[in-house]
Amino acid sequence: MIRTVKIERVINECKGVKTLFFNLKKENKDYIAPKPGQFVMVWVPGVDEVPMSISGYDDNGNCAITVKDVGECTNALQNLNIGDYIGVRGPLGNHFQIPTNKSKKCLLIGGGIGMAPLKWLSSELIRMNYNFIVIEGAKINKELIFIDNFQLYNQAFSEFHFCTDDGSYGVKGIASDVFEDLIKNYTKEELSNLIVYSCGPEIMLYRLFQICEKHSIEFYASLERIMRCGCGLCGLCTLDPLGLLVCKDGPIFGLETLKKIKDFGKYQRDFTGKKIDLE
Ligand SMILES: Cc1cc2nc3c(=O)[nH]c(=O)nc-3n(C[C@H](O)[C@H](O)[C@H](O)COP(=O)(O)OP(=O)(O)OC[C@H]3O[C@@H](n4cnc5c(N)ncnc54)[C@H](O)[C@@H]3O)c2cc1C
Ligand code: FES
Repeated sequence: MIRTVKIERVINECKGVKTLFFNLKKENKDYIAPKPGQFVMVWVPGVDEVPMSISGYDDNGNCAITVKDVGECTNALQNLNIGDYIGVRGPLGNHFQIPTNKSKKCLLIGGGIGMAPLKWLSSELIRMNYNFIVIEGAKINKELIFIDNFQLYNQAFSEFHFCTDDGSYGVKGIASDVFEDLIKNYTKEELSNLIVYSCGPEIMLYRLFQICEKHSIEFYASLERIMRCGCGLCGLCTLDPLGLLVCKDGPIFGLETLKKIKDFGKYQRDFTGKKIDLE
């Protein structure tokens, strides 16, 4: 069911990236609370409907999405003001499983706008007093998002590593290299205690998958595919050869499933459903 919500707050994260806040609970008796990793289909009247990860949420129903301007609909979302209305369907898809065992060490690894669902996961981990590490990568310093937010976290529980392709902030290099460097002196026992949650460019996710497979590390990746329906009807987000749907079976897949998805790291579908190489 699609519901209409009012934009209540807007934050400029960096050039071309904004966070929009709205309330999912107000005047909605069928309200379902989302979980970190889930997404919503966001409809801009007269433009289009697109999938967006939930980047923040609280018990009062206040919800955030963080939007990167890449095309028609995301541009229209960027141009909305406080008081404007959008349509929201969801929460949709599966979610990140937070371990019940608090001695597990969670590693959140994101690239670019892929940090959106990990930002909410990180605030849940802080709320639950879990120890975790964040590795955030971007092309240049101006594209790193949520840094101000992370600085407010209790540093006794959290550790942050930043990297940029050009070295303009943090380590020069890509997030998977930072991860590999971080774990290079870990013992077998320490490696088996890690859980990696990741989201971002699929090339990065594939490299993280290879590292985790090599070291037998528990690994989850949130995948993106072009979506039309968001609820298992159109087939645009099918992953071959298992026929899994990113919108219904995902967007989060674990290492054992990813091993069997031949499309992972290689192919996506365009708006006609034709398979094309990943960009
Ligand atoms: C589960 C999920 C969660 C997402 N979460 C976020 C988020 O939190 N923030 C955010 O900014 N974006 C997110 N995206 C990507 C976002 O949905 C697309 O950027 C958006 O649909 C583009 O629409 P557009 O009309 O602006 O661009 P279009 O004009 O339709 O296309 C512009 C470019 O974006 C590509 N594109 C279009 N749709 C997608 C898509 N679904 N996935 C990847 N590339 C696409 C096109 O191939 C084209 O190259 C998510 C996608 C999925 C599947
Ligand atoms: S988006 Fe239509 S089946 Fe997944």
